Amino acid sequence: MMKRIAVTGAVLLSSLLSINVMAAAEQTPEQKAAADIANRQAVFKLLSFSQGNSYGAMARGTAYNAEVAKAGVERVIMLSKMIPEVFANDTSKITGTTTRAVNTIWTSKADFDKMAADLTTTATAALETLNTKGEAGVKEVVAAIGPKCGACHDVYRTK
Ligand code: HEC
Repeated sequence: MMKRIAVTGAVLLSSLLSINVMAAAEQTPEQKAAADIANRQAVFKLLSFSQGNSYGAMARGTAYNAEVAKAGVERVIMLSKMIPEVFANDTSKITGTTTRAVNTIWTSKADFDKMAADLTTTATAALETLNTKGEAGVKEVVAAIGPKCGACHDVYRTK
């Protein structure tokens, strides 16, 4: 009896999974744009989270913790490397989307990608600052990384 339930469950699960795969394959351009926009916004939400809950908070007075500070910067390095990829799909011609991305991202993609790479380079150097200076380097790290976020927002994100 238990075995039969288990087998029925497995069959049901595998057919549900294949329905899922079919749905993914049949996404309309609008659905794909919405999914891609949600993913790129998630990358930025996590960038903000990574900064705000580690070195960013420490620069504002939260107790210094070397491991947490470094983990925050490591996450910024990792997430910044995803930026070019999550903007691979040009969603500028899809109407009805909820996005603050400026359309020129896709006519200046090399410049946009370079700004993402700048953030990676800066965050990589910031990790070294934390390794050598520890707590004394926290404000320097914020002062280095913050403007790299702002530089891109000034050009490629609406207010
Ligand atoms: C290469 C360009 C670029 C860089 C670098 C960049 N951003 Fe952004 N950011 C954008 C764009 C474009 C959007 C709008 C995305 C959308 O709405 O589709 C955005 C959106 C955001 C959002 C709003 C997310 C949401 O929808 O809720 C936050 C928060 C954010 N960025 C934080 C950061 C932080 C923090 C950094 C630096 C650690 C950073 N960004 C670096 C381009 C960039």
